[in-house]
Amino acid sequence: MRLTRAFCSPVHLLGSWGVLSVVTAALGPSALVGREIEVAVLRRAVDEARAGTGGVVLVTGEAGIGKSRLVREAALYAREAGLTVLSGRAVPQGGAYRPLVDALLGQLRDATMSESPELRPFRSALSRLIPGWSGSEAATEPAVDSVVVLGEGLVRLLRRVGGDAGCLVVLDDLHWADADSLALLEFLAGAVGTSRILAVGAARTDERWHRDRLMLNENVLALALDRFGRDDIVGLISSRLRQEESLSPGFEELIVARSEGVPLVVEELLAGLVESGALTPVGSVQHLTAESGRLVPAGLAALVARRLGSLTEDQRKVVHAAAVLGREVDWALLPLVAALDEDSVLE
Ligand SMILES: Nc1ncnc2c1ncn2[C@@H]1O[C@H](COP(=O)(O)OP(=O)(O)O)[C@@H](O)[C@H]1O
Ligand SMILES: [Mg+2]
Repeated sequence: MRLTRAFCSPVHLLGSWGVLSVVTAALGPSALVGREIEVAVLRRAVDEARAGTGGVVLVTGEAGIGKSRLVREAALYAREAGLTVLSGRAVPQGGAYRPLVDALLGQLRDATMSESPELRPFRSALSRLIPGWSGSEAATEPAVDSVVVLGEGLVRLLRRVGGDAGCLVVLDDLHWADADSLALLEFLAGAVGTSRILAVGAARTDERWHRDRLMLNENVLALALDRFGRDDIVGLISSRLRQEESLSPGFEELIVARSEGVPLVVEELLAGLVESGALTPVGSVQHLTAESGRLVPAGLAALVARRLGSLTEDQRKVVHAAAVLGREVDWALLPLVAALDEDSVLE
């Protein structure tokens, strides 16, 4: 097999383990692999919003499973269909309404829209999302539930922004969102059914967040992403290589087995193999060595470390105990090994 030009680029030669994502970012987004049903659902939601039936869709799944990639696909489709796309994301310890502020700021630096008659009464409420809009309207704000006022203001604003073609609001990493943002999103879910507004959120379900009310809201369409099967793993590997290239079977099997179907891990393992020099030019066959079999790229290790870093002390003990016990976790043994009681382990 031969390395892609990208793999041989100066970026690659910098020698960082996370090199593949750097390289692919430089080349622009690569083809989407699999996810046919999810893409169809999102496209339909975009088409419906464009035709006047909006909604809220929530893409969920574990870290690295492809949530951001999928919502980016929806954004591309929406943009091509003529919708205005606003994108924001939540961050750990972000301030109030962070994902929405992020989404709106890029679009609404120009405050003249706030002068329109339908938005003027909501200017003060909306100033929580768009700082430049703070104004003299505080006294006119109706004395009712602030979520309702802000929500109504947001719906009017998005209607205005979207115009005749509609508006898509993409909100990524919502597992880090503040409760107010989620309440607002919930309001949208109940309010945009007859408007050209679609909100697509993405959130991890391996965090406490999966118990959030939003997931249980009947107006929210939840799209849970599963791990890749073998075909999609192989598809992802070949999408990262040039057409005339292929991985030696041993390496392909290694990635299929080690990645457990998580696309991010597939990419990191592939980057690791490339980085380690385990791949050879076209025409020669590279055999799997004991060394490459043990390979765990630092990018992957860093991902795991980051995840572990976000756990509490007890959660970390459980993870360590589970790692000691191996793939098939014996739930009866886990509390003993972790030195915790059963309730703590289950929690
Ligand atoms: N369906 C897919 N097709 C191609 N690449 C994918 C797909 N899903 C995920 N990836 C790649 O895997 C990596 C992790 O995906 P990402 O969307 O960032 O995961 P998440 O947002 O769920 O943490 C990214 O580099 C992304 O491009
Ligand atoms: Mg993401």
